Amino acid sequence: AADMGMDLEKVLISEEELQTKIKELAGKIDADYAGKNLLIVGVLKGAVMIMADLARSLHIEVQMDWMAVSSYGAGTKSSGVVRTLKDLDTDIADRHVLVVEDIIDSGLTLSWLIHNLESRRPASVEICTLLRKPEAVKVPIDVKYVGFDIPNEFVIGYGLDYAERFRNLPFIGTLARHVYSPE
Ligand code: PRP
Ligand code: MN
Ligand code: MG
Repeated sequence: AADMGMDLEKVLISEEELQTKIKELAGKIDADYAGKNLLIVGVLKGAVMIMADLARSLHIEVQMDWMAVSSYGAGTKSSGVVRTLKDLDTDIADRHVLVVEDIIDSGLTLSWLIHNLESRRPASVEICTLLRKPEAVKVPIDVKYVGFDIPNEFVIGYGLDYAERFRNLPFIGTLARHVYSPE
């Protein structure tokens, strides 16, 4: 594989900015969910970094679970048709649930996921997303906690991939053009 540094255009959000924002989000979640036996649900695979850092910044006791979902059909990524690859292990009836995502792009993944979770009669379902692209949203989604609104650029790092690469970068960056349109 190529050198990650060569394939980067710029750092959009530094490691320090990410960690500061995550502590701020954790403070709000601590206050809002004190005494509520919160279940945080990470959406694999992009949300692994934000889940791990957010969970360690919380002072309330939470449980952690994971879902893996995949868009399919017609080749286009966010078709809105979503398939569950890994379901929750937890029964969420009467539970307070906070879905944790790395990014809301079109909103199609989360729109489907929230409907799916609501049908299980939880006490509440809310969303925490590190990143959101307001210009790309196709389905309006009610998001309780947002880290950063970002421009409609292809971003990588801190869990986010391009063809499964770059997830382990500790910051959010943009991709150099030669990576996705080589010539
Ligand atoms: C990415 C990202 C979000 C979703 C956002 O996941 O992590 O889950 O797309 O896109 P949307 O708002 O347009 O639906 P992806 O399907 O690439 O899987 P991954 O998390 O395993 O990378
Ligand atoms: Mn994802
Ligand atoms: Mg992806």
